[in-house]
Amino acid sequence: MASSLAIAVLLGAPVLATNARTPTPQMGWNTYNTYSCTPNEDIVKENAQALVDTGLADLGYLYVTPDCGWNMPGRDSDGRQQWNNETFPSGGKALGEYIHSLGLKFGMYSGGGYYQCGSSDQPASLGYEEIDAAAYDEWGADSLKYDNCYCTSPYVMAEYDDPISGSPERFRTMAAALDTVDRDILYQICQWGVGTDIGEWAPELGTSWRISNDIYDAWRSIWRIANQAAPYAALDQTGIGRHADMDMLVVGLGALSHEEEKFHFGMWSILKSPLIIGCAIVELPDTSFDILSNEDVIALNQDSLGDSAKLIRRDTENEWDVWAGDLSGRRKVVGVANWRDGSQTISLDLSDIGVSSAMARDVWAAEDIGRLSGTTDVELAGHELKLYVLSNIMTAGDYLDSTGYYAAANASLAGGAVVTSCGSGECLPVGSKLSYLGGSDDGTATFSSLKFTSSGTKTIGFDFINYDVALATAWDWGSNSRNVTLAVNGGTATRWALPLSGGDWYQTGRMELVVEGFVAGDNNTVVVAGHGDYYAVDLVGIETFE
Ligand code: GAL
Repeated sequence: MASSLAIAVLLGAPVLATNARTPTPQMGWNTYNTYSCTPNEDIVKENAQALVDTGLADLGYLYVTPDCGWNMPGRDSDGRQQWNNETFPSGGKALGEYIHSLGLKFGMYSGGGYYQCGSSDQPASLGYEEIDAAAYDEWGADSLKYDNCYCTSPYVMAEYDDPISGSPERFRTMAAALDTVDRDILYQICQWGVGTDIGEWAPELGTSWRISNDIYDAWRSIWRIANQAAPYAALDQTGIGRHADMDMLVVGLGALSHEEEKFHFGMWSILKSPLIIGCAIVELPDTSFDILSNEDVIALNQDSLGDSAKLIRRDTENEWDVWAGDLSGRRKVVGVANWRDGSQTISLDLSDIGVSSAMARDVWAAEDIGRLSGTTDVELAGHELKLYVLSNIMTAGDYLDSTGYYAAANASLAGGAVVTSCGSGECLPVGSKLSYLGGSDDGTATFSSLKFTSSGTKTIGFDFINYDVALATAWDWGSNSRNVTLAVNGGTATRWALPLSGGDWYQTGRMELVVEGFVAGDNNTVVVAGHGDYYAVDLVGIETFE
């Protein structure tokens, strides 16, 4: 990259690998969600022009990327990929210059396999990384989306289980090739979250990394991808210049209701996903334009702290979540998500996010709503994500104290539940977990002798592991969540749908569950079980608070 190269030459040192990163999530437009693998030059030029004409470019949507389908079979005599000369009569450098002339940035697309996704003869970059990186440099590329098809053989497009598909190696090779060219090229890893621990290796290589299989134009995709995104922020793997990519937006495609489009855009914004528009800008409905151009929501995404909102509370029986994150200027964003089809009013407890009171702005309503303190009723339409920005925050002084930790391995087990011991640093904090809770063998764990000084609803720190990743099931009903139920003192079981916890089946995640039915004394019991015949999450332990 230009700057590091210059410094290295001056110092006479070897050129060290660097990354071209944008500190805040990338914003732009990509052909795939509307034009699949059949983009052409007119489509790209018209939509690029429309980004400028509509003012979206001024709001930050700058990167224009022709996705799969831009190249033709074979390589030229220099071994370079070739633009399809029928659909992209100029392509390459001329297209790059055109996009730059509009004040936009030019995105390239390739992959670390034999062929591009969606084709069986258009070469991707495996084995040609340096040649291709040099070509992208010459064509004036500003970013590279690097996909994961045909990584094991020229015959299988998508592999979810093969270790090669989950390995960082091919992505590392292209990162190194990009570092040899004299141009800043932002690297978008599109590995889909295959294998394990992508949140550990991908942020070192690229500005963004896809955490999920493709978004599908249906509401259920939003739930699936939100559950898949949860661990990256919880594990602090995201931040400035490192963004978990929740995939391109389906706003404007007619797949979601207006409320759902706001939910989707708001959730992607507060989780600091790249915001890549996937609809035709030339046919963008006004209502969708209003969403994509909402400057206050965009500002949440582009906030300089780069802090992705985390899942703070989930009430599965009533189908709502609270997500929250820090913003610059000692502010916070709170997203209250209603997964329910119908409207409902929920009680938001600010102390859950460490706040006793704060000035609040309802972002979508564009209204300052004054000072909120303690608990607040929030009215939500079906599938609404209410976004609040909190400022002038008074922090909560009344923190809960831990009153005990109960390792799941010491609970009394029934049905198919078994204790699994884990390696060092795994299944924290106790180094073991229960597997096979729930399922058709009805695995259960009973904790007894839980102590509380008063009766009522308590916060339970629930240390669980879920790495049931929805890849092959992504367009179907795969949700990245697993159910667990808790029954307190013989009462009715209450269900929670928990998201992924980390990067494999040994990385613990914690959810604080607000659980009813405890009594004063030292003899409370909690039975943890599954729901239906499905396996529950694995369980490490529970911590009680009062
Ligand atoms: C997928 C990728 C999509 C799109 C598609 C093209 O692998 O995740 O974003 O690029 O390939 O066929």
